[in-house]
Amino acid sequence: MSQRRLPWFEKYRPRSLKDVVNQEEAKKTMEDWVRRWLDGKERRALLLSGPPGTGKTTMVHALAHDYGLELYEMNASDVRTAARIREVVGKALNQGSLFGFRGKLVLFDEVDGINVKADQGGISEIVDIVKEAKVPIAMTANDPWDPKLRPLREACIVVQVRPLKNRDILEVLRRICSAERVKCDDDALKLIAESSMGDMRSAINDLQLVAETGPVTRDRVSLLSSRAHQYDMFRVVDMVLKANTVSSATAVTRLPSFDWESLMLWLTENAAVAYSSSVGALSDAYDNLSRADVLRGIMVSKQEWELMPYLLELMTAGVALVRNKPKLPFFIRGMRFPEKIRLMARTREVRETRDRVMHMLRTQLHESSSTIIRDYIPLVRILAQRDSKIINTLARALGVSEGSVKLIINPESAEGQGE
Ligand SMILES: Nc1ncnc2c1ncn2[C@@H]1O[C@H](COP(=O)(O)OP(=O)(O)OP(=O)(O)O)[C@@H](O)[C@H]1O
Ligand SMILES: [Mg+2]
Repeated sequence: MSQRRLPWFEKYRPRSLKDVVNQEEAKKTMEDWVRRWLDGKERRALLLSGPPGTGKTTMVHALAHDYGLELYEMNASDVRTAARIREVVGKALNQGSLFGFRGKLVLFDEVDGINVKADQGGISEIVDIVKEAKVPIAMTANDPWDPKLRPLREACIVVQVRPLKNRDILEVLRRICSAERVKCDDDALKLIAESSMGDMRSAINDLQLVAETGPVTRDRVSLLSSRAHQYDMFRVVDMVLKANTVSSATAVTRLPSFDWESLMLWLTENAAVAYSSSVGALSDAYDNLSRADVLRGIMVSKQEWELMPYLLELMTAGVALVRNKPKLPFFIRGMRFPEKIRLMARTREVRETRDRVMHMLRTQLHESSSTIIRDYIPLVRILAQRDSKIINTLARALGVSEGSVKLIINPESAEGQGE
């Protein structure tokens, strides 16, 4: 990939911890932790949890860089089962073990992506691996209160990574503008920083999008960033649930990236979590959500978009202003990602991996997809049943993970993972 095409958030990803802005507490905890490991005084793993785009993955990479550690990573497209995790830890332990675990760091990125349903008992097995491992393991997750991660949290040192402050984001945006020699209005940068809600990746993406299509002015930012932006839904849902007036509840609908369909799913999933202690609140919230859903049906099928304001008010104010509303804590525990969205994302991951491997096979074999599916794959499947080493050989030849090859030769089992 040429430098020009590289996304800026990658191009300007800090290599060293000293270039990571803010997150001082997390950095210190991580450094102390790795030093204790190197001194043989620590056995526990580390779990970094916090919202997207705040530096979790970056800090683990930077830690490895600063301490000269070799990083063994489980990447996002890996099918994350206990067996696969065992394999990565095993590799880290056994390869070039001249210095034992010294000089190695294992990263399990986005552990909340572990599919508990498809891999029953998965988490407890992972907890065992993590407890017994003789290498330092760092993990990342978005949602610190995900109930399925609880046993893992208990076995780890947990580091809270906070949303970044506007001024931290502004600092990085200014730095990028001067490195790229782009003239940027400071007002425009401030607006990008404000609407990123602490997510550095999305702020940098917004800046790149605006800068590559014209001058970076406040007007163009408000026009363009709204399309590119994805808010942290946990924050938006939290804002709605904690609102005490109609106007504060409906305020979220004016956020540049507002996405009413997602918010409806998120509220439907999480109102029950927030109001579990009050029957009155629950019944009012779900009454209003179901009315909103009826409106949605009419609006979409009859294309009557003028119903939208009523729908928005019902799904926000209707959920915020309820009878016997319980007092909500600063962190509403147990808030979760809507299952429906999670399911769709998972099958997308499978589809994307499959398309990528097929593309490689097509270019290397000079055959069409249909020929590959008809003639080659069944053959590989039979060979793999007789000797599973062939999967590894093929994965190496194609430069993909074994998981990806398995996905191609056993589509049914991969699909099953997504269900
Ligand atoms: N604290 C920071 N200082 C400087 N740059 C940052 C910081 N946090 C994030 N970034 C920028 O944002 C990009 C994304 O960060 P990173 O991948 O570490 O996020 P993350 O916390 O792992 O998010 P996710 O939960 O979505 O995986 C980085 O490539 C980097 O350019
Ligand atoms: Mg990450």
